Amino acid sequence: MYYIGIDLGTSAVKLLLMDESGNIKNIVSREYKISFPHSGWSEQNADDWWTAVKSGLKELIQIVPKDEIKGIGVAGQMHGLVILDDKDNVIRPVILWNDGRTKKETDFLNNEIGKDKLSSWTGNIAFPGFTAPKILWIKENEKDNFNKIKKIMLPKDYINYKLTGAFVTDYSDASGMLLLDVKNKSWSKEMMDVCDIKEEMLPTLHESFDIIGELKKEVADDIGLPIGVKVVAGAGDNAAAAIGTGTVGNGACNISVGTSGTIFISSDTFKMDKNNALHSFAHSDGHYHLMGCMLSAASCNKWWMEDILHTNDYEGESENIDEEKFGLNTVYYLPYLMGERAPHNDPYARACFIGMSLDTKRTTMLQSIFEGVAFGIRDSLEAARDMGIDIKKSMICGGGAKNKYWKKIFANVLNLELTTLETEQGPGYGAAILSAVGCKDFKSIKDATDKLIRINDTIKPEKELVERYNERYKAFKKLYPALKDVFFDFYK
Ligand code: XUL
Repeated sequence: MYYIGIDLGTSAVKLLLMDESGNIKNIVSREYKISFPHSGWSEQNADDWWTAVKSGLKELIQIVPKDEIKGIGVAGQMHGLVILDDKDNVIRPVILWNDGRTKKETDFLNNEIGKDKLSSWTGNIAFPGFTAPKILWIKENEKDNFNKIKKIMLPKDYINYKLTGAFVTDYSDASGMLLLDVKNKSWSKEMMDVCDIKEEMLPTLHESFDIIGELKKEVADDIGLPIGVKVVAGAGDNAAAAIGTGTVGNGACNISVGTSGTIFISSDTFKMDKNNALHSFAHSDGHYHLMGCMLSAASCNKWWMEDILHTNDYEGESENIDEEKFGLNTVYYLPYLMGERAPHNDPYARACFIGMSLDTKRTTMLQSIFEGVAFGIRDSLEAARDMGIDIKKSMICGGGAKNKYWKKIFANVLNLELTTLETEQGPGYGAAILSAVGCKDFKSIKDATDKLIRINDTIKPEKELVERYNERYKAFKKLYPALKDVFFDFYK
């Protein structure tokens, strides 16, 4: 039997086909456009996603007998606001997770409604990328669009809606809307009132491995799949990546270095960071997690390579990095290309290089990018350590984890043993596993991950490098506070 995992990412949708032993039989991807209508804003068209998913599915399934495909799971970029009218038309382009336009609405929520109330209602405070501030933004700036809203969805829920007709979401993804009482796993009446929306506009809530329906006949016919293929509720991409790397159970940790950078700490019970730097979200295994999210991680490298150096030779560019210089770089990079979420919650922050001199080479700058992103993840790790959570090892996944130098920098900046997998496919793999569990081919998520996840290699931190990087991190931590007012004056 085969399972399909779909990862609706920010730059592309990645689809994979997994057999019941966890082997990946095929991988297909389709890119789509992202637009930045203003500095710090980002939008995509929901129908571009759907076109890409359909076309990707058609190619993906060519290599196996179609009637052996049993289930589909979709994982997706979180927090995006997809709004539909009474005819199920998408009302406007989707405002994405890394869009920073809602500073005013975020301030209203955090300062006027108040962080204490928000935390007690939802387990979280407001960040510009979250969904609720976006609803308030539409209400304030696009009244006509606001009045047309009949359904509010997250990106992967739109795909599930197109596949099955079921208007549903899962707890992990719903956690990032600031509309869910995460601890009690129900919509927050208070937040619905604040946003002036009704519960019928919100999807029905499910565990990620619940079956939400079967493919609609016309969709199955169009794609070339038999009817009867089951679709599970799926998960936010980070919760799905955690499944895909076996990050389940208390204290298990995963670092994802994708467009965003996240540290994901699985927990059997609901926990909250009193400083709210970390998000308190539901996990897709039925429990909870804490997560720190930086808005630009591997995207800093992509920007540097493709937009600035005009090259696609990622490997070649990093070949000249000198490991002897690890922990000694005096050039610093602040990774705030799209503002920053954890821990600064500042949409006006911007990326910078600091400390260049005439002997600075392009390799030095690349190294500083790798280091700046690792320092950004460390900010969230420190928030977890402040909560008394003792993390010594973590999984690491995503495009950035494929570069051996970057991985070594992460291990030493974070002082963590970092493990990668044999077939590292992050969210798509996790989504396929969720569908296999939903189809009852495994007893539980834990049973599935114990049987399917295969470790490839582990890198250990080295004492001397850890000490050197501790010093660099102290310096890095001084930079944002020194620049905060400049960012506000220049970019608000
Ligand atoms: C998590 C977040 C990002 C997106 C990226 O809170 O905003 O990781 O999910 O796809």
